[in-house]
Amino acid sequence: MNAALRVSPAPASALPDIQALVAADMAEVNGLIRGRLASDVLLINQISEHIIAAGGKRLRPMLVLLAARALGYSGSDHIQTAAIIEFIHTSTLLHDDVVDESDLRRGRKTANALWGNAASVLVGDFLYSRSFQLMVELQRMPIMTILANTTNAIAEGEVLQLLHVHNPDTDEAAYLRVIERKTAVLFAAATRLGAVLAGAGSAHERALHDYGLALGYAFQIADDVLDYTADASALGKNLGDDFAEGKATLPLIHAMAHASPERRALLAKAVQDGDTAAMPEVLQCIRDCGSLEYSHEIAKRYAQAAIESLASLPESPQLAALRGLALYSIQRDY
Ligand code: IPE
Ligand code: IPE
Ligand code: MG
Ligand code: MG
Repeated sequence: MNAALRVSPAPASALPDIQALVAADMAEVNGLIRGRLASDVLLINQISEHIIAAGGKRLRPMLVLLAARALGYSGSDHIQTAAIIEFIHTSTLLHDDVVDESDLRRGRKTANALWGNAASVLVGDFLYSRSFQLMVELQRMPIMTILANTTNAIAEGEVLQLLHVHNPDTDEAAYLRVIERKTAVLFAAATRLGAVLAGAGSAHERALHDYGLALGYAFQIADDVLDYTADASALGKNLGDDFAEGKATLPLIHAMAHASPERRALLAKAVQDGDTAAMPEVLQCIRDCGSLEYSHEIAKRYAQAAIESLASLPESPQLAALRGLALYSIQRDY
């Protein structure tokens, strides 16, 4: 086993320990988020309060805080940077739930289900542009550059995914290209920004970027497995959303590549039609082909790559927490 993997990584159950490590900083981040949501337009307050107060795991801001502290940062801009990352994430969720026609998010009805698509898109835009205001306040061009490139790539990822919807020929390489942009780049920006804030050299900045990117892949692949296997109330999202949207994620892509010709035809038709009535049969094919195990294995490899990226960084509780988050991302049930 690689040396980096032998260094007592925290188990998934240690998430509360990781949260405790950043609790003081995170309280400030949450305070800043709440304080900067304010608008005199009532509907903006209602919708942003609805989604922000529902919580969420706050994983991406946690990554900013841990990365900055792991490299010895002692200033205060990591709080605002973490809030910016969560604003961006939240705005993508508001847009994503419209695109995906999702009804449940963070255990609550989605904003689009409650207020409609138009309101969700527009409040998503409000949160996006509020994040730009917060960025400008930091007056740091390298941070703005990373975030501008990241938000642009996320938009590309979502559009790229749209181009593959209902396409049964979507292969693993195309899937990976989509998830890199729609998910992994924001994780990479979060950890890289921690390094930038700490004034780390380019090697450490690159290491934290690589860690975040690999973690993002692992996280999204695990999320796509959960869409077939989780308990909806624990997940806080409905199951089968990906399939219902005609989205071929890794479990389905693997099953299509390994099923018998008859079953492949069934799966291909199900993707084309997004026919939810076919879900039990689709799930059976996915199970019979070992596609959930395969996807989990790929997620695990990315999580291991994430951990290995940290090998050259100085040991600290925050570094151990980053390793713990890599394991958490593939063992989580919500
Ligand atoms: C949801 O992200 C979007 C994906 C990349 C799968 P999270 O699972 O981190 O969402 P919250 O913030 O905890 O609700
Ligand atoms: C996650 O998209 C990525 C973004 C929100 C940009 P998904 O559609 O895969 O995630 P969930 O399942 O809705 O959280
Ligand atoms: Mg979605
Ligand atoms: Mg989506």
